[in-house]
Amino acid sequence: MENEIFKLRKEHVNFKKLLNLLDAQLDFLHRGETPDYQLMTDILYYMTQYSDLIHHPREEAIFALLAVRDPRVAENVAELTKQHHTIGDSGARFYGKLENIINGESEIMRIEEIETDGCQYGTILRAHMDKEEQGLFMIAEKLLDDDDWKKIKSETRSKPDPIFGEAIEVRFHLVCDQLAQLVSDK
Ligand SMILES: [Fe+2]
Ligand SMILES: [Fe+2]
Repeated sequence: MENEIFKLRKEHVNFKKLLNLLDAQLDFLHRGETPDYQLMTDILYYMTQYSDLIHHPREEAIFALLAVRDPRVAENVAELTKQHHTIGDSGARFYGKLENIINGESEIMRIEEIETDGCQYGTILRAHMDKEEQGLFMIAEKLLDDDDWKKIKSETRSKPDPIFGEAIEVRFHLVCDQLAQLVSDK
């Protein structure tokens, strides 16, 4: 049975691609050029709607089970769970600021803020994913069995991935075009 960790690792690869797209836009901003605010907003919308609402709760279900099986990981579980809240809050705030610009608020006052928020968001999320991949994901692969994976699956919400799943949601066409560009530029 394909365990959930395989899926989570795949999602991390996807999230890192989106963070690379975001970085490219922050570079424009840094050079004094106008970034694609719509693209940035769509990326953050995805992160707040898919990563925060689907990916993180699934991880938390796995981590909670690990903490029961091996109390030595409890501290690590608490730290990563806390980071989910920090990432969720900062993503939502950043998304709000980007949405205001899309809706006509002048970006001039916000440029430094947007750049700082974007850099911080990327740094925190990348470090968080690395920590999971090198720590609790590996422990979960060792400690949990098929019945555990079935239980986790039945207890957590799932929804099709609107960017990397089978059907791309209309709202994310711009993001997908840019992802395709990223591949063809390599
Ligand atoms: Fe996480
Ligand atoms: Fe994760």
